[in-house]
Amino acid sequence: MSTTEQNPDKKRVHVKTWGCQMNVYDSQRMTGLLKPLGYETTEDATNADLVILNTCHIREKAAEKVYSELGRLKDVKARGGTIAVAGCVAQAEGAEMRERAPQVDFVIGPQSYHKLPEIIARTSRDTGDRLFTDFDVDEKFDALTEHHEPDGYCAFVTVQEGCDKFCTFCVVPYTRGAEVSRSTDQITAEIRSLVSQGVREVTLLGQNVNAWHGAAPAGSGQDDWGLGELCRHLAKIDGLDRIRFTTSHPRDMDDGLLAAFGEEPKLMPYLHLPVQAGSDKILKAMNRGHTAETYIRQIEAVRKARPDIAISGDMIVGFPGESDQDFEDTMALVREINYASCFSFKYSRRPGTPGAAMPKQVAEDIKSERLQRLQALLNEQRHAFDGAQVGKTLPVLLDKRGRLDGQLMGKSPYLQSVHVIAPENLLGQIIPVRIESAGPNSLKGVLA
Ligand code: SAH
Ligand code: SF4
Ligand code: F3S
Repeated sequence: MSTTEQNPDKKRVHVKTWGCQMNVYDSQRMTGLLKPLGYETTEDATNADLVILNTCHIREKAAEKVYSELGRLKDVKARGGTIAVAGCVAQAEGAEMRERAPQVDFVIGPQSYHKLPEIIARTSRDTGDRLFTDFDVDEKFDALTEHHEPDGYCAFVTVQEGCDKFCTFCVVPYTRGAEVSRSTDQITAEIRSLVSQGVREVTLLGQNVNAWHGAAPAGSGQDDWGLGELCRHLAKIDGLDRIRFTTSHPRDMDDGLLAAFGEEPKLMPYLHLPVQAGSDKILKAMNRGHTAETYIRQIEAVRKARPDIAISGDMIVGFPGESDQDFEDTMALVREINYASCFSFKYSRRPGTPGAAMPKQVAEDIKSERLQRLQALLNEQRHAFDGAQVGKTLPVLLDKRGRLDGQLMGKSPYLQSVHVIAPENLLGQIIPVRIESAGPNSLKGVLA
């Protein structure tokens, strides 16, 4: 590393992140871990000594982006820099990647990030292994959370990682390993430290966040806690005003969580609960472990506990064997739920998953047509939900400057972006805003 040799104290790391919020969190933790080694972050890959691509393997297109990015990083190599590939593509395709992209210095899977300092020292001596894909999630949690410096008023905190559900379309159980929960004490300590640095809202992350479970603190008289109890416990932290969590699975919804929605005002009225499809035949083939009816009943129960709650989800169209009628069942379920927002994807055949080998794969043009129809309906629902806020006064956490002069941006309780003309000294505060209009992607309001 020539730049390093010229100036041993100052090294630059550039991290590019794809995929879910957990990757965003992991990227921040990796830069935190590298800081004591003298690495500053840079937005510019071309002047970096170390480039880390934190990748996503969820759909084919996401994975392909890594290889095109690697092609663009020739300059980094020419200057003697180091290129690392992290994340779920690293975990799934590490060995092949070293062949297909020899410019990659090392490949590191999501559960090995705590080894980064050691690997970097080794790589510069040019010896040893270049593929790190063990599952040491407990050690990762211990190492990665020590230096969590927030970059604003909202922060992600991983509380659970991995997945035991094995939906037949999905790579996550293979790339992130089995379900592991962080301890209540570790989570509490991290959030306390964030709050002391100005954070007011946390989003608890997990691939199956509501599978989180942990021991109740000694002396509480309780045994095992679920996510609802954890949220209530965290809500006691002074200075923490908002708690969110994502992503939940219908199989792990429990009464404790429902009750928390009804009773804990710091728990925001927003639930991301993916269902993926509306046909029981397809849900079964997906190995979801629930029916459309159980999902609908769960949403009813959540709405009973917290009537204004915004419901969000994920949908897949064109899973193998999906007939016109199965797709109509998805449309019917979406009409019944009436989502505040919902992501939707064309099924992507992922190597190594059971779905990839199933008969009756759906043609690409049929997937596209179904996706278009579904997205039209979901957009209608989102606009209706956003439009219904006009005229209301909502508490908005103002967390960023807007693009216009004098404008600030923030989040409503329902996770909508809100633009408002407001003085800078309101940054970091939760302020009542009267909503005046709803645009395609955000709301506009005035200080109430
Ligand atoms: N753990 C979360 C998120 C998983 S990935 C959950 O269980 O909901 C996020 C979303 O990507 C999934 O909910 C699903 O809708 C979508 N997805 C996953 N694998 C996919 C595939 N092979 N093709 C298309 N979409 C997929
Ligand atoms: Fe993937 Fe299903 Fe696990 Fe979600 S629950 S991460 S969709 S296998
Ligand atoms: Fe992608 Fe891995 Fe997240 S596959 S969605 S980065 S868990």
